[in-house]
Amino acid sequence: MTEVSNPFLQNNYAPVSDECTAFNLPVSGQIPKELTGRLMRIGPNPISTPQGKHHWFSGNGFVHGLRLENGEAKWYRSRFVRDDEVSAKRQLENLPGPRFVEMGAGTANTNIITHAGKNYAIVEAGGNPIELSDELESVARTDFNGTLPGPFSAHPKLDPDTGELHVLGYFFGWDCLQYIVVDPEGEVRKTVDIPVEGRPMIHDCGITSRYFIVFDFPVLFTPQMIEEGYSLPYRWHDNHGARVGLLPRDGTAADILWHEVDPCFVFHPVNAYDDPSGKVILDVVRHPRLFDSGSEHLEVDAQTQNLFRWTITPGEGRVKEECLSDRPQEFPRHDPRRVGKSYRYGYCGSCDHEGLFGGLLKHDLEKGTVEHRDDGPAHLYQEPVFIPRSENADEDDGWIMSFVHNKERDEADVVILHAQDFTGQPLATIQLPARVPYGFHGNWAPEP
Ligand SMILES: [Fe+2]
Repeated sequence: MTEVSNPFLQNNYAPVSDECTAFNLPVSGQIPKELTGRLMRIGPNPISTPQGKHHWFSGNGFVHGLRLENGEAKWYRSRFVRDDEVSAKRQLENLPGPRFVEMGAGTANTNIITHAGKNYAIVEAGGNPIELSDELESVARTDFNGTLPGPFSAHPKLDPDTGELHVLGYFFGWDCLQYIVVDPEGEVRKTVDIPVEGRPMIHDCGITSRYFIVFDFPVLFTPQMIEEGYSLPYRWHDNHGARVGLLPRDGTAADILWHEVDPCFVFHPVNAYDDPSGKVILDVVRHPRLFDSGSEHLEVDAQTQNLFRWTITPGEGRVKEECLSDRPQEFPRHDPRRVGKSYRYGYCGSCDHEGLFGGLLKHDLEKGTVEHRDDGPAHLYQEPVFIPRSENADEDDGWIMSFVHNKERDEADVVILHAQDFTGQPLATIQLPARVPYGFHGNWAPEP
């Protein structure tokens, strides 16, 4: 069955067929000269027309990179991440490197990070990270010099004080989750197995100065969905419950403190920190339910997800929940220098126009105010990435960069905003000569 009606193959969810290399791109406005580096982004982009009940999360990885230098947009490149399906289609050898699971194509499609001087396309649930060159060519699958024993994740948390990555790995064949710490040199220095029931999907995690934060939500591996033709065999299960675990960063699995919360699903926390009284503050985009709608496409209901503050007294009682913003939103980001620390500003995609995509929101969590940027239904922002003006600049003194689907051209722009003039005229808009399909995550890789 060819899913021509599949919503994940329509509009700007549809894949692009061609890789692109373009130089000296047209710019309106002025790119800040301090921004020298690459803005990288990744999303799913099936290389062949998917069969069966294809899900957005399952497409082959495709990366986009924009290089800025001295106020100029030097190049834009887009490349498939070379999993086995991409290699077969192009009659190439499979990428070299270790493989944690033999089944599947080894797709990596969810985030792109730079750590210890290397770029990695990364994914949850078993696929190895794939190393990419600075020009986005696939180099090799990796297990970090033999130190990564199992699955990785799309959402490592980089501790700004230690330079370590804190990661939650899971795999449907395991009856545990795994806490992984990667050192600043890019090797795993410790793992902790955390027993859990039901093989849950766990997309993200959190850190504070004291704890690694573990989610356990009721979206579970459901093997019969494979026979039913689903590319993503995970579904909501009412009887699983939901909880948040606090694992002392130097602790063992026996030290984890679990706290019940009303059943829900969280793809992404904004941030978390220890407050002075010893409580843990955890801000999340909360979905009241997920993958139980009856839709065979397992769509995410973009209108029901809101920003919540969860307050946890370690070892005591339930999670205390407070809604901070009832606007539909996703893809929350914040200043990367504040990971695991108290913070004031959060930046999110605002689900205004097309599924998860529309404008942007900026939350001032101290004042309790929100700014809404909406450039209309023909200019649809993807995840906002915050880049501080300098190492010592104040929080929020910097830029927001986002890939924007420009429906008038049916191509993408990269828009650069000053974070402190969030709803004002962009500082610069860079025209890309290609469409950038709706995708997941990206990051800024600065060059000295
Ligand atoms: Fe994510």
